[in-house]
Amino acid sequence: MGGALTGRRPCVFLRPRPGAFARGRTTPVGASSQAVHGFAVPAELAAMDRALELARLGPAHGPNPRVGCVLLDADGRTVAEGWHEGAGTLHAEAAAVAAARASGTPTHGTTAVVTLEPCNHTGRTPPCADLLLDAGVDRVVYGLADPNPRAAGGASRLREAGVDVVGGVRQEAAAELLRVWAGAVRAGRPWVTLKLATSLDGRVAAADGSSRWITSEQARAHAHRLRAEVGAIAIGTGTALTDDPALTARTPDGRPAAHQPVRVVVGLRDLPATGRLQGPGGELVHVRSHDPAEVVAVLAEREVRHLLVEGGPTLAAAFLRAGLVDEVVAYLAPVLLGAGPSAVADLGITVVDQALRLRPRSVEQVGPDVVVVAELAAGGEPPLPAPGSPTTVEGPGSGPAREEH
Ligand SMILES: NC(=O)c1ccc[n+]([C@@H]2O[C@H](COP(=O)([O-])OP(=O)(O)OC[C@H]3O[C@@H](n4cnc5c(N)ncnc54)[C@H](OP(=O)(O)O)[C@@H]3O)[C@@H](O)[C@H]2O)c1
Repeated sequence: MGGALTGRRPCVFLRPRPGAFARGRTTPVGASSQAVHGFAVPAELAAMDRALELARLGPAHGPNPRVGCVLLDADGRTVAEGWHEGAGTLHAEAAAVAAARASGTPTHGTTAVVTLEPCNHTGRTPPCADLLLDAGVDRVVYGLADPNPRAAGGASRLREAGVDVVGGVRQEAAAELLRVWAGAVRAGRPWVTLKLATSLDGRVAAADGSSRWITSEQARAHAHRLRAEVGAIAIGTGTALTDDPALTARTPDGRPAAHQPVRVVVGLRDLPATGRLQGPGGELVHVRSHDPAEVVAVLAEREVRHLLVEGGPTLAAAFLRAGLVDEVVAYLAPVLLGAGPSAVADLGITVVDQALRLRPRSVEQVGPDVVVVAELAAGGEPPLPAPGSPTTVEGPGSGPAREEH
């Protein structure tokens, strides 16, 4: 049954029966690719569900997407599994092929079920499309077309080599899994989540500027999990100087999380040499600018895909005015302050028709608090132009962009 690299044959179990398949969508995969329709049979759909589970084992914070892969034999049985464990490690397809080889199982004639279109790009590792061809894979079923123009084209490459390729299978689930990463890749900058932690009357500090513990311990633990999933956290110099935060990600028992995001402070004033920001944690980068576009450009160079803007109100408003917020995560505590700064400074909105209206994604109770997650419309025009200013960046590793993958 095993097919050779040349003279490929269709897998018997893969012939779709009425009612037994899911139709793949037309999947434009790049400027040079053909749009195709295909079908996935139940064994492949189950394998895709498993591949999505495997993908979630990978890190959310890295420059690379979370991807899972399952290899099926001609009878639809799982031969091997793999997932991507982060930049510099094997891609999911390579991990699955390596797992098959390690167990002495042939990969010729198998079907690779993979959550993201196999890449056609040499970065830190060779193209996955070539790897699958070398492995003698007969058929490839993938979820999401690669949004990265530098890596896309794997499906075309495989088809041209005679492999049967079906795209768009469980596409919505794959797109949801890669929402932040794909949003960042499409925009060419980090996906920006604005975090707000406010009283019920929308204030982030009391009149004297003190802001510790407005939200509950449970909400803070939730926010620390979010920190552990992002590549960088940004605050303005105002928050850095008022609160002296450490900006670290911690586990519920107070220990440092395994991944520490880059700590970014935005503003012209100097930072104290002895503050908690100088202590253990992620790399500290001081962007001496008032322009959020400069901040995201600095982080894009470092391959940061997800930036968490934690305020304060001045920086939050600057990112919103610049049209550089993709999503808001708002923690609302059942607390009233009556005075003190509100979560977002002036946006230049004077009439309610100009309000920034967000699309809610979720509302969740966390301890006594409520967490609202809402997205801004993609590609929205900023209400006001961002103020420009000269920029300097301080911090190690501000070198040229590296290749992704
Ligand atoms: N509850 C919460 O979750 C939370 C979170 C964060 C902060 N806070 C509270 O917020 C208060 C601090 O508010 P804040 O607004 O001063 O903090 P901020 O937004 O962190 O910092 C403001 C400073 O950042 C610099 N900056 C950066 N980009 C700017 C821009 N586009 N336009 C103008 N200035 C820019 C300016 O300082 P330079 O002069 O140095 O350039 C400005 O004074 C504190 O009381 C803090 O506790 C609460």
